[in-house]
Amino acid sequence: MNEEGFIFISGTPGTGKSTLAKLLSEELNCNYIEVSDFAIKKNLVIPDETGRDTYVIKERELKEEILKEGKGLTILVTHYPDVFLDDDRFYLNTLFLILLRTNPRILMDRLKKKGWDERKVKENVLAESFNTIAEDIYEYKDIVIEIDTSNENPNNLLDIIFNKIQSLDFGIRINWLLNETLVNFISSLVDSINFNNDRISD
Ligand SMILES: Nc1ncnc2c1ncn2[C@@H]1O[C@H](COP(=O)(O)OP(=O)(O)OP(=O)(O)O)[C@@H](O)[C@H]1O
Ligand SMILES: [Mg+2]
Repeated sequence: MNEEGFIFISGTPGTGKSTLAKLLSEELNCNYIEVSDFAIKKNLVIPDETGRDTYVIKERELKEEILKEGKGLTILVTHYPDVFLDDDRFYLNTLFLILLRTNPRILMDRLKKKGWDERKVKENVLAESFNTIAEDIYEYKDIVIEIDTSNENPNNLLDIIFNKIQSLDFGIRINWLLNETLVNFISSLVDSINFNNDRISD
């Protein structure tokens, strides 16, 4: 493994990014940065105007701070890898991007266990169902190692990743919208979100 550069880990909440980042950083003996936590710690966030539990991140300053801090081999865990990859200072130093995917039904159970409210759970399950991050980074698919963690023990993930690297198995192939067993699940989720909106507006 190169001694320098960035490895991204991305995926919808609950797909297992933090779990993997810990394992991979131990294996590679390198640092990992949870980008959202880092931004909050460095005071690079502005509370979202909607008053919801979200933040707007000061992207330019955040990138500078990470470039300062991320010397050597650094794992970056983020929901927004395209923000960094669109910047050549990151892209040209990136080894690969691990994109974690989880079957929306299974993701729903994982997120419920986090104790999140129903709306937040549904929004994130929908984001995964609609392949949101995969779409955001599709142009970088040649450096993407995509892994379905739905039925995978986290301890197997490192072997899967190293095998994929060795066999040059890069690309984005999972599209939950084409999975026939999920059609009803996803459409009833969409309906239930719309139904809630109707109730809020009347
Ligand atoms: N491969 C896996 N198989 C089954 N469960 C997993 C797997 N990876 C993680 N989990 C479980 O799913 C939950 C979410 O994992 P984790 O916190 O690593 O996700 P995350 O992607 O970092 O989420 P967030 O974006 O909210 O930080 C945890 O309870 C974790 O134990
Ligand atoms: Mg996490």
